[in-house]
Amino acid sequence: MQRRISILPDAVADQIAAGEVVERPASVVKELAENAIDAGARHVRVAIENGGKTLIEVSDDGSGMSRDDAVIALDRHATSKIRSAADLVGVATFGFRGEALPAIASISRFSLVTSDGSADAAVITVSGGRLERVEAGARQQGTSVTVRGLFYNTPARRKFLRSAASETRAVHDAVATLALAHPEVGFELMADGSTRLDAPAGQSAGERLAAVWGRELAGTLVPVMYAAGSFRISGFVQRPGDARPSGRRAQLFVNGRPFRDPFLVRAAEAGYRAAIHPGDRPSLFLNIETAAADVDVNVHPAKLEVRFRDRIGAERAMEEAARQAIGALVAAVPVGGWRPLPDFHAGSSEPVAMIDLGDVLGASPLAVEPGDPTGVGAASVPAVPLTQLFDTYIVYQSGDSLIFVDQHSAHERVLFEQVMAQLTGGDAPAQRLLLPLTVELTDEEIEAVELHRAQLNAVGYDVDAFGGRSVVIHTVPSPHPRFDAGACFQEMVADLARGRFGGWSNRLERFAATFACRAAVKGGEPLGEREMRELLGRLAATQLPPHDVHGRSTIVQLPREELERRFGRR
Ligand SMILES: Nc1ncnc2c1ncn2[C@@H]1O[C@H](COP(=O)(O)OP(=O)(O)OP(=O)(O)O)[C@@H](O)[C@H]1O
Ligand SMILES: [Mg+2]
Repeated sequence: MQRRISILPDAVADQIAAGEVVERPASVVKELAENAIDAGARHVRVAIENGGKTLIEVSDDGSGMSRDDAVIALDRHATSKIRSAADLVGVATFGFRGEALPAIASISRFSLVTSDGSADAAVITVSGGRLERVEAGARQQGTSVTVRGLFYNTPARRKFLRSAASETRAVHDAVATLALAHPEVGFELMADGSTRLDAPAGQSAGERLAAVWGRELAGTLVPVMYAAGSFRISGFVQRPGDARPSGRRAQLFVNGRPFRDPFLVRAAEAGYRAAIHPGDRPSLFLNIETAAADVDVNVHPAKLEVRFRDRIGAERAMEEAARQAIGALVAAVPVGGWRPLPDFHAGSSEPVAMIDLGDVLGASPLAVEPGDPTGVGAASVPAVPLTQLFDTYIVYQSGDSLIFVDQHSAHERVLFEQVMAQLTGGDAPAQRLLLPLTVELTDEEIEAVELHRAQLNAVGYDVDAFGGRSVVIHTVPSPHPRFDAGACFQEMVADLARGRFGGWSNRLERFAATFACRAAVKGGEPLGEREMRELLGRLAATQLPPHDVHGRSTIVQLPREELERRFGRR
C-alpha cells in the first residue's frame, strides 16, 4: 500500500515556520535585534532600505559565534538558550525556540558574519534556505546579519507587504519597543540612509523614554510604583489633563519582556475613570513583575502575547496602579485652561481651543479678595454677561466663542470633588436638625445605608437605624441653599441599593458620584446671576476635565466661525 503521510523536508518546514514568525520586515528586525540583545550586545545597529523589502541589516557587538556554532545556528531548533522544557519556565532571554534564523534564511537571501573574538570571522551565505558558502572573513567580535529580497521565493507573501513608508514605521516601532525594554543598550535605526532613531547606551528608563517617545510626551508622564499580591507594577502613566483621544502610546512589559494586551491597557485606563473624558486615551508605559512560573511567554508565534495565571489579579493591579499614580497628583493638575469636547466639530481633527473661565471670574465680586478694600480687581476687567437658557444652561461669550455650561453637570463636578475630599480626610459641614427626619426604606436600601454609613457620615448625614425599615437622620449636609436633604438622601440610597453607579469600581468614587448627582442643582431650576457666577467660579477651581460623573460634557463651545458658516458669512 502506498503511504499517504510523509515528513516534510526541512526547507519546507522552515518556510512554514517563517509564515508564523516572519510577517513583514519588522518581524525580521525584531528577531535579529532580540538575538543581538540575548548575545549581550551593548550597541545594536539596524539599517533598512525600502522599508526593509530590499535590505535589512542588523549588527551588534555581542558575544558572536564560533564558525561551528554559526553553522548549527541555522538549523531548525538550534538554540543555545534552553536545553530542556523545564528551562522554558522563567526563560530570561528573548529567544528560546531556535527557529528565527532558519526561518528568515528560508525566505530571503541571507548572510551572516560573526566572530567570537578568538579566530577568523565566519561568513555564511544562505539563499532560500539552501546553504551556499561558509568562508573565513574579518570582523570585530559580534555579529552582522544581512537579509535581502525578503519573500523573494514566496511571491504570494511578498504581495502582502505594504508601502515602504508603512513598513519603515513598523520597523521603527519594533526597534523602539526593544529600545524601551533595554535602556542600557544603545540602538540606532537608519532608513534609506537617514537616522530614524538614535538612543545611546547606558540610559535610565526615563531618559530612554524621552529619547524614544520624545521629550514632549515624556514630560506629561508621572511615575508609577505599585505592589499588590504577587504583582509589582512600575513605569509611567500620563497626567489625566494631557490625555487625548488620539496619538497615545501604550507599552507593556512583563518582567522586562514587551508584550501586547489590549485588555490590560483597558484595565489601566479604568484607573482613570473619574479623571479623563471617556474618549481620551492616556499614554502608558508599564512593567508588571510577577513570579516567572505565573506567566507563560510561549503562547504566540512571534512572542507578542503572554498568558497570566492570575488574569484577574493582573487586571486589578493595573487599574489600581494607574489610579494610585494619578490620584496622588490630582491636586497638582493645572487649572485655568479647559479642553471641551468638539461637539460642534464632530469629525474634525483640528485642535480644540482652550476655554478660559477667566472672562467670567476676572470681574466677578467673587474674584475680589475679601480683604481687598479697593476692589481694583473687579473694576479692571468688565464681567461678561451670563445668561441662563431653558433654566438649564449658562451661556456667555468668551473670546471668539459662545460657551454653554450645563448647570447640573457643572455642579455635579464641583460636588464630586468636594465629596471626594471629604471622604478622604476632610470634614463636611453638617447641620443638626431640630426635628430629626424619619425615612422609610426597603431592605436593600437599609443594607446600602449600613454599608455606606462611614461615607454618609463623612458627607454630613448622621443616621440611626430605627429598627425595622426606617432610619432617623439627625444631621444633614447643606451643599447649597436649594438643597433638599431628605429627598437627596432617599434618591441616593435608592441608587446605591440598585447599583446605579456600578461602573465605578472604587467604592468611594461610586458614593461620591451618587451624592454629587443627587445633591446637585437640577436642570430646569432658574438661577440668579450671582448663583451662576458662583457656580462657574467653583467649576473653574475643580481639577478635573470638563465632564461630569456620567462622562457627559459639562461645557460645550460654539465657535463664532461656526455661527458665521451657518449664516453664510464664510
Ligand atoms: N546576534 C547573535 N549573536 C550571537 N549569537 C547569536 C546571534 N543570533 C543568533 N545567535 C545564536 O544562534 C542561535 C539561534 O538563533 P535563533 O534566533 O534562530 O534562535 P533563538 O534565539 O535561540 O530562539 P528564537 O527562535 O525563539 O529566537 C541562538 O540561540 C544563539 O545561540
Ligand atoms: Mg532568536
